[in-house]
Amino acid sequence: MLLGGSSGQSALLSLLWAVVVSFSYSAIPIDEARNELLNREKMVRLGEHLVLRKEEEQVNGNLMTLKKAEITKAMKTQEFPPSMHFFHAKKLIEKSDVFHILKKMPKGAALHLHDFGILDGDWLVKNVTYRQHCYICFNPSGTLQFRFAHSTPSNNKQDNSSKWILLENYRRELQNVTEFDNSLLKTFTLVTENPEVTYADQHDIWAKFDTIFHTVSGLVHYAPVFRDYIFRSLEEFFLDNVMYLELRAMLLPVYELNGETHDKEWSVRTYKEVAELFAKDHPEFIGLKLIYSDNRSKDVSLIKESIQTAMALHTSFPKTVAGFDLVGREDTGHTLYDYREALLIPTMEGVKLPYFLHAGETDWQGTSIDNNLLDALILNSTRIGHGFALSKHPAVMEDLRKRDIPIEVCPISNQVLKLVTDLRNHPAVAFMAIGYPMVISSDDPGFFGAKGLTHDFYEAFMGIGGMNADLRTLKQLAINSFKYSSLSSSEKKTALQTWEKEWDTFIDNLVKK
Ligand SMILES: *[C@@H]1O[C@H](CO)[C@@H](O)[C@H](O)[C@H]1NC(C)=O
Ligand SMILES: *[C@@H]1O[C@H](CO)[C@@H](O)[C@H](O)[C@H]1NC(C)=O
Ligand SMILES: *[C@@H]1O[C@H](CO)[C@@H](O)[C@H](O)[C@H]1NC(C)=O
Ligand SMILES: *[C@@H]1O[C@H](CO)[C@@H](O)[C@H](O)[C@H]1NC(C)=O
Ligand SMILES: *[C@@H]1O[C@H](CO)[C@@H](O)[C@H](O)[C@H]1NC(C)=O
Ligand SMILES: [Zn+2]
Repeated sequence: MLLGGSSGQSALLSLLWAVVVSFSYSAIPIDEARNELLNREKMVRLGEHLVLRKEEEQVNGNLMTLKKAEITKAMKTQEFPPSMHFFHAKKLIEKSDVFHILKKMPKGAALHLHDFGILDGDWLVKNVTYRQHCYICFNPSGTLQFRFAHSTPSNNKQDNSSKWILLENYRRELQNVTEFDNSLLKTFTLVTENPEVTYADQHDIWAKFDTIFHTVSGLVHYAPVFRDYIFRSLEEFFLDNVMYLELRAMLLPVYELNGETHDKEWSVRTYKEVAELFAKDHPEFIGLKLIYSDNRSKDVSLIKESIQTAMALHTSFPKTVAGFDLVGREDTGHTLYDYREALLIPTMEGVKLPYFLHAGETDWQGTSIDNNLLDALILNSTRIGHGFALSKHPAVMEDLRKRDIPIEVCPISNQVLKLVTDLRNHPAVAFMAIGYPMVISSDDPGFFGAKGLTHDFYEAFMGIGGMNADLRTLKQLAINSFKYSSLSSSEKKTALQTWEKEWDTFIDNLVKK
């Protein structure tokens, strides 16, 4: 609108202006320029160079029709699951046609997972806490502990916890067991109806996160439960069409009913045995590898010991223990630089110990924590856990890309842990747009109320990929999950062959529909 003139005058003037503008601009080949830009952008997108066969093109067409309909509708209603908190979005996501296709899609491997964040709490409540010899202890702070034992465990003298109670007896005294079981379930997960209220900030959510670890620890480290937990994890991912897992595992002592405990070697052997057992009945299952991980809140002297342990485990179980990582909240933990003396031990000793370091899981730009990305690169990390802050480090970005080191993107985890609210604003949007090496994973789906990889794939496909990501993006993500795994090159070949067969079946089934 022009200033000052009456509205009739200004309307006439703008009309004239429009005529002048359209006349003079038509001489500029704007469509050509636009197409050239669009083409250049298309060419660098993740998965763009993949050539689809005829059937895949057909499936892609149908998938994109569904996707466009869903996004178009969301633009009207302003209800778009990736822009909502996952706890609210989950129900909507599970109704989506795109989600159901993604669920059936062979997604390859899950490369960023933590040992006891995989299964949802429901099984722990309904199966594990109903087993015999399960004791419970209520702390004054409200945190729970569990322990399986022949006879009542004794209390630690310094703390003021209540006595250990046999859960079976406790339940017998209760008026309403369902209510109690529901309250147990709440202590095993971060899920709440009002996450924005329950968790005001990152401190709140991490406090709860750490409490969950503490609470489930006594359950999952009981030997029979430990085995079942692994088996069920494999089952859950396999049902979600994931064929191979790499698990960050802390290998804390596993105990028996009589109090006897097992060492780390025992735990590794058990992981290996259970995976082999599972593979027997599921020939398309490729396997499980572990990334031994310690807590980044520990002193450097303790981490030095852990590095020695990691080297020993990697030597004793070269096919099962892939390497080492540090876990726990980055913002409050030690930096990789703090740990340099420990982390350089393998190099100094001429031993090869691959690293899979979490780095850049922070919003605090320019801090010493943020610089973990530099050190992860310098320490030759095989992959980068999250790399959420990577876009703020152009030099690291460039070098990682040159060395083809991928980031492990875990959309739901980043949202629930409050690094980003709307997943359309996740930094991976830009990385996907330039075809940066990446894989999608789910971190601790059990704590977030997610299952397997599909919920995270949905967020990545719809929210991070936007209208541009198509079947090629998805196929590339699946291929990447093997390419960037720590499988040996011959294992990779076999894995990819198995996956391709599954992929073709998936495509053919969709074509038939
Ligand atoms: C828990 O599950 C296992 C199989 O995973 C089953 O054998 C056992 O009976 C179940 N226990 C309870 C208490 O439901
Ligand atoms: C335990 O209770 C005693 C007495 O009430 C108190 O002095 C002490 O600080 C408490 N200890 C802890 C670890 O809370
Ligand atoms: C027990 O608690 C559940 C959940 O709070 C509730 O739905 C149910 O009605 C209660 N049962 C009785 C008998 O009070
Ligand atoms: C790491 O250690 C801190 C401090 O003891 C604890 O709060 C946190 O739960 C631990 N994290 C993990 C993943 O074990
Ligand atoms: C990382 O790899 C490069 C190239 O192989 C090597 O020169 C360098 O010493 C390695 N760095 C460490 C910390 O091991
Ligand atoms: Zn993680």
